[in-house]
Amino acid sequence: MRMYDIIEKKKHGLELTRDEIFQMIREYTDGSIPDYQMSAFCMAVYFKGMSDREIFDLTEAMATSGDTVDLSVFGDKSVDKHSTGGVGDKTTLIVAPIVAACGGIVAKMSGRGLGHTGGTVDKLESFPGFHTSLSPEAFTAQVQKCNLAVIGQSGDLAPADKKLYALRDVTATVDTIPLIASSIMSKKLAAGTKSIVLDVKCGSGAFMKTPEQAKALAEMMVKIGRAHGRNTHAIISNMDIPLGHAIGNALEVTEAIEVLTGKGPDDLREVCLTLATLMVAASCHLSIEESKARTKEALDSGAAHAKFCQWIEAQGGDAAYARDPSLFGTVAHSLEIIAEADGYVLSCNAEEIGLAAMMLGAGRETAESVIDPRAGILLLKKPGDAVKAGDVIARLLTERADTLAGAADKVKAAIQLSDKAVETGKLIYEII
Ligand code: URA
Repeated sequence: MRMYDIIEKKKHGLELTRDEIFQMIREYTDGSIPDYQMSAFCMAVYFKGMSDREIFDLTEAMATSGDTVDLSVFGDKSVDKHSTGGVGDKTTLIVAPIVAACGGIVAKMSGRGLGHTGGTVDKLESFPGFHTSLSPEAFTAQVQKCNLAVIGQSGDLAPADKKLYALRDVTATVDTIPLIASSIMSKKLAAGTKSIVLDVKCGSGAFMKTPEQAKALAEMMVKIGRAHGRNTHAIISNMDIPLGHAIGNALEVTEAIEVLTGKGPDDLREVCLTLATLMVAASCHLSIEESKARTKEALDSGAAHAKFCQWIEAQGGDAAYARDPSLFGTVAHSLEIIAEADGYVLSCNAEEIGLAAMMLGAGRETAESVIDPRAGILLLKKPGDAVKAGDVIARLLTERADTLAGAADKVKAAIQLSDKAVETGKLIYEII
C-alpha cells in the first residue's frame, strides 16, 4: 500500500494491518518514505488514535528495526527499569545496586540527558574514570561477575524510533499515548530484558501532567510489554516536585550514596524501595512480601552500598568517591535563596527548578553542551515544610558566576510559600 493510502486510512480512523505498519516503518527507516508523509501520519494518529493491536505491531516494528540485545545467557532473570523522566530522579543509582545485591540481574542501557538535568550516564560519569562504553562481551562478563552493568546507548537500537521521535519533536506530535508508549517500549524490547519495571512520572516536571494521563500511559506500556512476553509492571509516581533534595549530577550521586548508607530523604527512599521490590520479585521469582523484606535488608545491611562500590570500580570509576562523596569537592560560586517570612512551602514547580539547574551547568541546552558535574541545586525545603524567616530554602551551586542571578530568579518564581500549613500530595499514586 502507498504511504498516501496509509495516511488516508488513519485519517478516517481505520485500523491498519500488521503488514501495513511493518512496511511503513521499514520504508521510513530506509528513507523511502519522506518526513512530510510520516509527520502527516503522526498527526492523524494524534487525532484518531490506534487500536491496541496496531500499537503492539508498531512497537514491534520499531523494536526490530535495528540491533537487539541478546540476554538469553541470563535466562529469565534479567530485569530493566525505565523512568519517564523527572527532575532529581536518581533512582537507577540506588535501585540497580539494591536489586543486584538481592541476586537480581540488572543489565541496563541508559541515556544521557538533554535539557533539565543529566541522564543516568551523566550522573555516573561524575566518578573520575567511570566509563559506559563496554563491548557486548565485557558487558555480559561484568553482569556475570557483579549482577550489574549500566552502559550508554550503543549500537543501532530501534533506529526507527530514533528517527521518528526526532520528527515528532518538531511536528508537535510527541504528546499522544500510542506514539509515546510504542516509542519507549520499542527501546525496552530491543534492550532484551525478560522483565521491565516502569516508573511513570506524573506532575509539573513530567510529560504526563495528571494521574489519569499517567495511568493511561502506564497501562498501555504494561499491555505492550506483556503482549511481547515481557513480565512488565509500572508505578505511577509524583513529579510535581523534584525527588529528594539534590538536582545536578555529583549532587544526585551524593544523595544516592546517602540513601544507600541508610540516610537520605524519605521520598527518594520510598520510591526506590518500591521499584526495587518489583524488580527483585520479577528477577528472583519472589512474592512481593518476600521481595520487600529482601530489598530492605540489602539497603539496611550495607550490602547495596557494597554492591554500588563494586559496580563503580568494575566500570573504571574511583570507588573512593563512593565511600566518601565529599571527594567530589565543591564549586566556586554559590547563592542561597532565603525565606523572607515565616510560613510553609506550598508548591515547587519541578520543571522550572530543572531548567534553573540546567542554566547553572547541570544539564545540556544543546547536544554539544558540556555538563559541570558539581553544578546544581540543593532544595532544602520542600512542599509541606515549615520555614522561618532567614531559613535557606535552596542553595544554587555553579562554576559560572554569570548564571546565578537568572537561575535564582527562576527558582524564586518556582517556589510558592503560604502562611497556612500545607498538605502534600501522594508520592506513589498506583502500582500496576
Ligand atoms: N520518551 C521516549 O523515548 N519517547 C517518547 O515518545 C516520549 C518520551
